[in-house]
Amino acid sequence: MARPLRIAVAGLGTVGGGVAKALRSRESELFARAGRPLEIAMIAARDRRKDRGFDHTDLPWADDLAALATGDADVVVELIGGESGPALRLVETALSNRKHVVTANKAMLAHHGARLATLAEKNGVALKFEAAAAGGIPIVKALRESLLAYGINAVRGILNGTCNYILTRMEATGAAFSDVLAEAQKLGYAEADPALDIGGGDTAHKLALLSALAFGVQPDFGSITVEGIDTITPEDIGFAKEFGYRIKLLGIARATAQGLDRRVQPTMVKLGTPLADVEGPFNAVVVHAGEAGPFVFEGRGAGEAPTTSAVIADIVDIARGSNGAVFGRAASALSRPVPAPVDARVSPYYLRFHALDQPGVLSEISGHLANAGISIGSMIQRGRAPGGTVVIVMITHECPEPAVRRALKVIEASDKVRGASRMIPMEAV
Ligand code: HSE
Repeated sequence: MARPLRIAVAGLGTVGGGVAKALRSRESELFARAGRPLEIAMIAARDRRKDRGFDHTDLPWADDLAALATGDADVVVELIGGESGPALRLVETALSNRKHVVTANKAMLAHHGARLATLAEKNGVALKFEAAAAGGIPIVKALRESLLAYGINAVRGILNGTCNYILTRMEATGAAFSDVLAEAQKLGYAEADPALDIGGGDTAHKLALLSALAFGVQPDFGSITVEGIDTITPEDIGFAKEFGYRIKLLGIARATAQGLDRRVQPTMVKLGTPLADVEGPFNAVVVHAGEAGPFVFEGRGAGEAPTTSAVIADIVDIARGSNGAVFGRAASALSRPVPAPVDARVSPYYLRFHALDQPGVLSEISGHLANAGISIGSMIQRGRAPGGTVVIVMITHECPEPAVRRALKVIEASDKVRGASRMIPMEAV
């Protein structure tokens, strides 16, 4: 019989527990798939006595993480999380000790991925991360191994289930952002620090990885523009619907003639297009792969079973000897991304203002837009409040983002406009 693949698991939370359970309960099926037994060699987690909802008393516990990285396991599965600290130390030591690594840690890879890929290559081992982006959706494998022939023009995705759940619930109930966030936290969708979800950081971590695979660049988290959903109001969501759109937090990576446009941004997507119909905690990714056309991937982006499914897929790949380049090409071939200038971002924009209900206000706002070269496609003014404020919404024709920002600065400085305005790009794909 082929030699078993010996697996060390670091972290026995939701995903670690799922992986341990699947390796035991699906033993013979996974043996058949992997061509050799998959054996848990060691487990390390913070508290051995903690009730984790399944019997883990017979698992081979290690005393510390160092034992995992230096012991006799073939693969270390890192499920601790965190951009640096113990997770990073474990992965560095494991790779240096010629152990394959499987991780779900998007923050670590978004920040240190290029260096870790070089370390894995130098030591002739695999570093796999299917579970780090979009949970159970096999998007890492698709970008690394399948969509190669025609290159990739763009990757757009809903990559954070918490944000998608919040936006979906705000639309369904009209409830405010903070109430729905509390609900999402209760349901266990949010990260330990929900600021990473709602601020767009988690989506940006995942986008860094997908864009590295798609465009052959280093993940380089720092050069991604990031905006979250915390300023989206039920009012904006309602207007989006009236115009036939839905607001989604998208991670977008797009090749332009002047460089790579990578951003995380609340975006209005047209109803009836694939991303608009993704609801609740689901994730989805649309990949434009040259002449091969667009491909849509959708599924569960978090939770025990979907994430376990992705981790097990990586383990089985390693057992089969499929240890290809971490980001789909040699680490030395990954270039530093050249960020596209912001004026490469051209689209129609949704603009919302609160302005005094008095004659001349509309013409003043549209005058400032015209001065910035922005043409208005349609407009709604809601309510009547002489002496008070009304809401004004405008949809522009296609225009570059910097022109909109310039115009909004002038408009917000007007004594007829109250509070901050809002701009949201609109996508029809
Ligand atoms: N907090 C993440 C989400 C979990 O909401 O999608 C998986 O990264």
